[in-house]
Amino acid sequence: MKKFIITATLLLSGFISIKAQNQYPEWLKSAVFYQLYPQSFKDSDGDGIGDLKGIESKLDYLHNLGVTAIWMNPIFESPFRDAGYDVSDFYKIAPRYGNNNDLLALLNAAHKRGIKICLDLVAGHTSDKHPWFKASAQADSNEFTHRYIWTSSKDILPGSFFIKNDFPRNGNYLKNFFDYQPALNYGYAQPDPAKNWQEPVTAPGPTATREELKKIIAFWMDKGVDGFRVDMAFSLIKDDENLVETKKLWTEVRAWFEQKYPQGVLIAEWSKPEYSINAGFHIDFMMHFGVPGYPSLFFNKWGTFKSQNPFFDKRGDGDFSDFWNNYKKQLELTQGKGYISIPSANHDFQRPNCGNRNSTQELKTVMAFLLTWPGIPFIYYGDEIGMRFIENLPDIEGSILPDGNNRAGTRTPMQWDKTANAGFSIAQKIYIPIDPAPNRPIVEQEDADKNSLLNFVKALIKLRKDNPALGNDGKVEAL
Ligand code: NOJ
Repeated sequence: MKKFIITATLLLSGFISIKAQNQYPEWLKSAVFYQLYPQSFKDSDGDGIGDLKGIESKLDYLHNLGVTAIWMNPIFESPFRDAGYDVSDFYKIAPRYGNNNDLLALLNAAHKRGIKICLDLVAGHTSDKHPWFKASAQADSNEFTHRYIWTSSKDILPGSFFIKNDFPRNGNYLKNFFDYQPALNYGYAQPDPAKNWQEPVTAPGPTATREELKKIIAFWMDKGVDGFRVDMAFSLIKDDENLVETKKLWTEVRAWFEQKYPQGVLIAEWSKPEYSINAGFHIDFMMHFGVPGYPSLFFNKWGTFKSQNPFFDKRGDGDFSDFWNNYKKQLELTQGKGYISIPSANHDFQRPNCGNRNSTQELKTVMAFLLTWPGIPFIYYGDEIGMRFIENLPDIEGSILPDGNNRAGTRTPMQWDKTANAGFSIAQKIYIPIDPAPNRPIVEQEDADKNSLLNFVKALIKLRKDNPALGNDGKVEAL
């Protein structure tokens, strides 16, 4: 009898946990994402920077391409020292992109075409111009004193991530990425009582930060947004060995989120699916950092991050095993609980068309791999027409990383047609240079050419949709 009860309990708890893990929205099973860099997609008002109305005007293009969801990089108010990843108001669209009502209009127009829209949630830090940080940097204590992580004296500098400063508060603050991106205080996994800036995750400061995070999510979800890509999702809780507390945080957020927004999705920028997906994210990437493998597929001697002899090189002597072995392991550890995405590129690293990988045939090969692979495809804007990574651009809105690698070359304006600025903008001066090549790929031309990369990508997306074996839940073996 006792044996039976134990077995029944185990079975039941197994059943419950399997069910809970499978509660992801049905639409994800056939989703094809398109990552769109809002400042570089389409400028509707002629100020040289892309905007929400511009995006809205191109929804038919995206619909015809066959994508079913968009992730946009941050569109919130910001001084744009890190291209919008330095938010100064989480509840307001940056004027250069439009206003909150323009987002509602975009959502509406996208939803009419069956396209979902996910925003970018910068969960781990703000701009140093954010009013919360300005208040936190005051000498007197106030509501935001514990919203960030400060030492109790300007003489204490516990490591290079603490930033010396001239703010009135007697302390140094912890940054999360660039110096002007102070880390929000979600607490420390194992606070050392001798270091009084290390608060437990349950202390009032970290608790308030966590609640604010949910408030931001709810604010936009209640307006009809379909989910979020979470910037540096791994970074919230400090000194967190094996990310135990960080995973607990996201598990809690997911439970709350799923109950309130069962159709919503959470996408991690973590690049460690075994952690992120098991913590509750619906999607995580394998890309330029984290679990190894992606660079061995694509990175050659050019681009933001240089490497050599990638698998997708026409010499054909690259090695697939680094990617495959790591991918297989991640898949085994996450199967049925969420999706691993292998993106074509993103705003932080080079596109497939990079250096000597530049022919339509080579790019078709890359796209054939990405769009028949299981998991959720993420096409980075412009990769469907084979836009080039542009070398040697200046530092634009923080594109150059602290290690000197430049991301600007992957952020250049979308190339639409033969008019000035390739139809991106009518402005004399655009905020970032465009590919200057006279034969730069453009949508207009590729649309009309049945052998183009664009039409090949369209056909691949259709093939994927028509054949579940090639879809998000397809099985894969490396031979
Ligand atoms: C990751 C983002 O992808 C990157 O563009 C940004 O600079 C950092 N996080 C800091 O938010």
